[in-house]
Amino acid sequence: MKILITGGCGFVGSNIAIFLRKKLKKAKIFSLDNLFRKGSEINLKRLNKYGIKNFKFDIKNYKKISKLKKFDLIIDCCAEPAIEASRKDPDRVFQTNLIGTFNILKKCAHDKSNIIFLSSSRVYSIPALNKLVKNQNLKKNITNKKAINEKFETSLASSLYGYTKLSSEKLIREFSFVNNTNYIINRFGVIAGPWQFGKQDQGFVSMWIARHIFKMKLSYIGFGGYGNQIRDVIHIDDVCRLIHLQILQIKKKFNNTFNVGGGFKNAISLKQLTAKCQKLTNHKINIGKQKKTSIFDIPIYITDNTKIMNHYNWKPLKTIDDILKDVYQWIILNKKIWKYFK
Ligand SMILES: NC(=O)c1ccc[n+]([C@@H]2O[C@H](COP(=O)([O-])OP(=O)(O)OC[C@H]3O[C@@H](n4cnc5c(N)ncnc54)[C@H](O)[C@@H]3O)[C@@H](O)[C@H]2O)c1
Repeated sequence: MKILITGGCGFVGSNIAIFLRKKLKKAKIFSLDNLFRKGSEINLKRLNKYGIKNFKFDIKNYKKISKLKKFDLIIDCCAEPAIEASRKDPDRVFQTNLIGTFNILKKCAHDKSNIIFLSSSRVYSIPALNKLVKNQNLKKNITNKKAINEKFETSLASSLYGYTKLSSEKLIREFSFVNNTNYIINRFGVIAGPWQFGKQDQGFVSMWIARHIFKMKLSYIGFGGYGNQIRDVIHIDDVCRLIHLQILQIKKKFNNTFNVGGGFKNAISLKQLTAKCQKLTNHKINIGKQKKTSIFDIPIYITDNTKIMNHYNWKPLKTIDDILKDVYQWIILNKKIWKYFK
């Protein structure tokens, strides 16, 4: 089997590529990544060690994509994943995230290959998610927690990032309908783990730990600046395990859309994350307060994993403490990479 992983030098793509390299001994695995993301060049070196070749060009370039060999499966992990990036560079977000998927689908249609798409919980509408919490000034802990399933509202605004993901999903269904190819769409919540070069607007878990280790500046941003906003977090190893299962069963189980995340057990507020980081690193840093909330931010997101668990007999195994420990150890073992967390 020949597999192409787009965004293969990113956090998710590189971990999936190496996991599959180990599990699918006979498969040929390739990456397509233009190394736009800071840190991707380091992940490329990891891929090279495993003999995984990267095609270094922009996903916008269909001419180059069309010249690639035929793949049986494309795992589409290429995106600008930072929600705030659309303020600075909406054209690049639109082109990479939506035109990129369109180009990959044209290639899939031509070769009759299947696709697994890394979508996002951000397809869900911001006004509807905001309604889950009455008072947006989160002075107190959020107590009324609700998990989000696949039927949650998607028709209202969700950021340009959310729009490109939802539109990519629709394109995938159109192409599958016409070309009779199989797809699986996974709407992931926050993913974390080693080899994520986290920054303020994307990858907050690794950034939080790194900034504690290196005693750098941090702030609680939005919702009054109290750090009570909540996300559920899933370990990248649980993501890789799921993608592997989906590949093994893609001829039997296909054309479906799932929410995937850490769930209630792995839901954590920023304040709780700080306490855990202090314990792990033995460092206490002053955390600033920025009261103003970005229009794209949401107070809470927790995944309802019921559908994915029922379909694949899969569940996230790694706890939030496992995630933090693994990221901590990765950073300590690779201290030179601290500059990526500036
Ligand atoms: N990390 C998360 O928490 C999370 C959550 C939900 C969904 N996702 C989705 O998973 C996928 C992977 O996310 P990630 O965290 O690994 O992001 P990442 O930024 O680490 O990886 C994306 C990769 O795509 C590459 N890339 C960007 N623009 C490109 C272009 N125009 N042409 C070719 N390559 C380009 C980057 O260099 C990078 O290596 C994305 O689709 C993202 O939307 C991620």
